[in-house]
Amino acid sequence: MPEESGNIEAQRFGVGVPMQEEPFYVRGSNHLDWGMQDRLSRMFNPKTGKTVMLAFDHGYIMGPTSGLERMDLTVRRLVPHSDVIMCTRGALRATIPPTFSKPVSLRVTAGSTVLVGDDLFNECIGVDIEEAVRLNATIMAVQVCIGGKYEHVTIRNLVQAIDAGNKYGIPTLGVTAVGREMARDARYLGMASRVLAELGAHVIKTYYCEEGFERVTAGCPVPIVIAGGKKLPELEAMTMCYNAIDQGACGVDMGRNIFQADDPVAMIQAVRAIVHDGEKPDKALEIYETLKQEG
Ligand code: 5RP
Repeated sequence: MPEESGNIEAQRFGVGVPMQEEPFYVRGSNHLDWGMQDRLSRMFNPKTGKTVMLAFDHGYIMGPTSGLERMDLTVRRLVPHSDVIMCTRGALRATIPPTFSKPVSLRVTAGSTVLVGDDLFNECIGVDIEEAVRLNATIMAVQVCIGGKYEHVTIRNLVQAIDAGNKYGIPTLGVTAVGREMARDARYLGMASRVLAELGAHVIKTYYCEEGFERVTAGCPVPIVIAGGKKLPELEAMTMCYNAIDQGACGVDMGRNIFQADDPVAMIQAVRAIVHDGEKPDKALEIYETLKQEG
C-alpha cells in the first residue's frame, strides 16, 4: 500500500500541453474499443498499415494439401516471416509453438469437405468464443457465400461470430467464399465484401480481379486483404499482389502461392517486399531468386 504521508508532491501536469491522442490507422476501426484496436494493430503493421497473412487452413476441407503435408516442417519456417497466421485450432495446437507469439486468425467455421462439392459452404460455427479466447485468437475467420445456396447459413455464422467477438474484443474476418457458378468480377466481389462489412466484419478477405478492383476496395469501409487462390507462376502471383495493394488492398492472406512455391521461404519474403516496401513485381522476383540461390 502507498504511504499516506511523506510522498513527493505531484507536479508534472503539463498544464497547457494538449492531451496526446492519435486517430487509429486501420480503416473503419477508429471507433472500436481498446481490445479490438490492440488486436488489429498487431495484425496491421503500424508503419505501413499493411499485413502479410499466411493461410494454411486448407486441411479442414482438403486434408493433407500439397505443401502442407508436414506443417511442422514447412509452415514453421514461414511463420517468422508472416505478420499473422491463419489456421484451424487443430493445426495451431499441434504444430505451432505458442512461443512463436504470432497473431492468429483462427478459422472458426466447420462444414463439409471438398468431397461433397455443392454442399461445401454448408458450414456451422465449429469453435466457440471461449475456445477462441483460450487460444488467444487475434481475429476469427468466418467464410460467407453470398449468392450461394447456403448464403443464409453462412451469414448466420458470421453474425454469430461477430456478436460473440464484440463481447470479448475479438474482431471477425469475413471471408468471401465464391461458389463455382459465380463470376469473380468486381461487381460480385464488391457486393460480397460490402455486405460482410455492413454486417459487422472488421476485415474482409476476398479475391483480386483484373478489372475494377479499385472499386471493390473503395466501396468497402474496412480493410480488404486478398486471398492468393490456386498456385500461379511466381511472377504472376507477385504481380497480382502488387496490383491489389496498388488498388487499395491492405494486405494479402496467401496460402498456396506461398507454400507451394519452389522456395516458400523466399516467396513469403518477396511478398513482404511488395506489401510493406512497395517493391514492384520485377524487383520482388529478383529478391526471390537471390534468396532462393542463397537458401
Ligand atoms: C478459403 C480460405 C483459405 O484459407 C484461403 O483462401 C486459402 O488461401 P489461398 O487461396 O491463398 O491458398 O480462406 O476460404
